[in-house]
Amino acid sequence: MSENHHNSESFEPKIVAFVCNWCTYLGADLAGTNRLEYPANIRIIRLPCTGRIDFNLIIKAIEIGADSVLVSGCHPGDCHYTAGNFHARRRWILFRDLLETIGIDLNRIHFSWISAAEGKKFQEFIIEIVEKTRKLGPYKDYKSICKQ
Ligand code: FES
Repeated sequence: MSENHHNSESFEPKIVAFVCNWCTYLGADLAGTNRLEYPANIRIIRLPCTGRIDFNLIIKAIEIGADSVLVSGCHPGDCHYTAGNFHARRRWILFRDLLETIGIDLNRIHFSWISAAEGKKFQEFIIEIVEKTRKLGPYKDYKSICKQ
């Protein structure tokens, strides 16, 4: 039996979502108000702006047991802190390399723009991430890298 073998039906992935207060958080809220159900697997952490997302926050989320991480903010140009999300995008490109270097599976890290009006998009994206993560199984690899 392969090490990755798991019962994908019964595995409930834990997803940590870092969202911007001005857009995606409100999009999530709209999904709730419109009764667009999305899986309860997600733990939402509000940030003032995704331009402030810190690389260590992503690592921390994985260390404390997240099976996937989502970072989502305003669409480019809509950031409330003059182009903060352009910074986020640039930093994200650097993050990807760093995450890959330390052995993080990039299939577990998601990045998106979801506005306050996009409750439906939020719902669909969360469902998609949960499904993908369920197929990948629990994220054990990174924890074993930490112990080495
Ligand atoms: Fe939303 Fe900057 S305020 S990404």
